[in-house]
Amino acid sequence: MKREQWGSRTGFILAAVGSAVGLGNIWRFPYMAYENGGGAFFIPYLFAMLTAGIPFMILEFTLGHKYRSGAPKTLKALNNRFEWLGWFQVMISAIIAFYYVVVIAWAISYAYFAFTQAWGEDSNGFFFGEFLGLADGSAPSNLGGLQWHLLLPLCLAWAASFFATYRGVKGGIEKVNKVLMPLLFVMVLLLIGRIVFLPGALNGINWLLEPDFSKIWDLKVWSAAYGQIFFTLSVGFAIMLSYASYLPEKSDINNNAFMTVLMNCGFSMLAGIMIFGALGYMANAQDKELTEVVSSGVGLAFVTLPTAINLLPAPGVMGPLFFLALVFAGISSHISISEAVTTGLMDKLGWSRQKTATIFCSTGLVVSLLFITQGGLLLLDLVDYFINNIALLGSCLLELLLVGWLCRLEDFRGHANRLSEFTIGAWWTICIRFVSIGILVVILFNNILGAF
Ligand code: PFF
Ligand code: NA
Repeated sequence: MKREQWGSRTGFILAAVGSAVGLGNIWRFPYMAYENGGGAFFIPYLFAMLTAGIPFMILEFTLGHKYRSGAPKTLKALNNRFEWLGWFQVMISAIIAFYYVVVIAWAISYAYFAFTQAWGEDSNGFFFGEFLGLADGSAPSNLGGLQWHLLLPLCLAWAASFFATYRGVKGGIEKVNKVLMPLLFVMVLLLIGRIVFLPGALNGINWLLEPDFSKIWDLKVWSAAYGQIFFTLSVGFAIMLSYASYLPEKSDINNNAFMTVLMNCGFSMLAGIMIFGALGYMANAQDKELTEVVSSGVGLAFVTLPTAINLLPAPGVMGPLFFLALVFAGISSHISISEAVTTGLMDKLGWSRQKTATIFCSTGLVVSLLFITQGGLLLLDLVDYFINNIALLGSCLLELLLVGWLCRLEDFRGHANRLSEFTIGAWWTICIRFVSIGILVVILFNNILGAF
C-alpha cells in the first residue's frame, strides 16, 4: 500500500508548528526568559536554536523523509540494534499523551468557566479546592476519588486526537491544524492588541525584555536555554520524525525545518508579550510588584491568570479567548504525540490506522483517568518532572549519539541538501556531533544529580 502523504507543504508546516507550539510556549517560555536574565536570555536562546534546534529538526525531518516510517522502524533500518530506542521514544510519547491531555481538559473547563469567571475572587482556592478536589489544599496520600466533572472535558480532548489520527494525515491531522493554527495566531494577536494598551502592561513587557547581562555567564541560564529548545521543538522523541515520514518525495527539508523552528520561536515571543503584558497590568491594578505576581506552569495558567482576567475589561471575552488559545495549542501538540505512537505501532505491527488509533486512544483515555483523581495533580507533577528533565533529554542524547556517531551522518546531510533550495554546511555535522551532545550531557548530568 502506498504511504499516506500531506496534501500540501503549508499543511505539513502547520502540522509541525502545531506540534511545536504547545502549552510550553505559553506557560513555560515567558517565565524561563524572565528568570534567566530577561532580554539577555535571548542570546543563549538564539544560540541554542541555531546550534541545536535547527540541526536536530533537520535531522529528524531527514530521517523521517528518507525511511518513510515511524521511529522504531526507522531506527531499525539504520541498524538492527537501534530499534529499542524507537520503542523507548514511542513509550515516552505515549506517557506524555496520557497526562498532557489532562491539562488540555482543565483548559477546556476553564474556557467554559471564563464566560462568567466562575472561579470567583479566590482563584487559588477554586483551582485546588473545588476544581481538583483537594479540599484543604493538602495533597492526599493515595489517589482518592475520581473527579467526575473532569470526565467530559477529558473525553473531548481525547476525541480530538482520535478524530485526527483515525482520519489520517491529510484528511485528519492536516485539516485540524489548518484550522487551529491560524485561529491560534489570530487569537493571541487579538489578546495582545487589547492587553498592551492597559495601564502597566508595558511595564510588564519591559521586565521581560530588560536584559540582565550578568546572567549570561551563568551555566544554569545556558542549560535552561538548551533544555527549553529541545522541549519546545518536540524533537528527540519520535514526533517530528513521524510527521516527516509522510512528506512527499520532493520536499525542501532544510527550508521546512527553518520555517518550523522560526514560527515556533516567534510564537513564543508573542506569548511572552501577552503573558507579561497581562501580569504587568495585574501588578499595577493590585498595586503590587511584578515579582509578586509572576509564576509559571499550572499556577500561571489556572491561578494567576484567572485573577488577571477578573481585572481585565470585558473578561467574558478575553477569558475564553485565552483559554481557548491554550486548548488549541495543546490539542495540536497532543495530536502529534498520538500520531507518533500510532505511526510507530502501525508501521511495525502492520495494523490498520483505524485499528491502531482506536486501540491507542481508548487505552489512553482509561490510563489518563489516573490523572483526574484527587491525587492526580501530584502524580502528574511527578511524571512530568521525570519525563521533561530526564527521559526526554536522555532520549535526545541517545538519538544523537547513535545517529551522529554510529551512522554515516554525512549521507543524511547529502539527503537533506539534495532537494533543498539552500544547502547546509559542515557546521551541521559539528553541531550534532559535538555541540548538542556536549550540552545534553552537561544538562542531563545536572538534572540527574538535582533529582536526588
Ligand atoms: N512542544 C510542545 C510545547 O512546547 O509545548 C510540547 C510538547 C509537545 C511536548 C509534544 C511533548 C510533546 F510530546
Ligand atoms: Na513549543
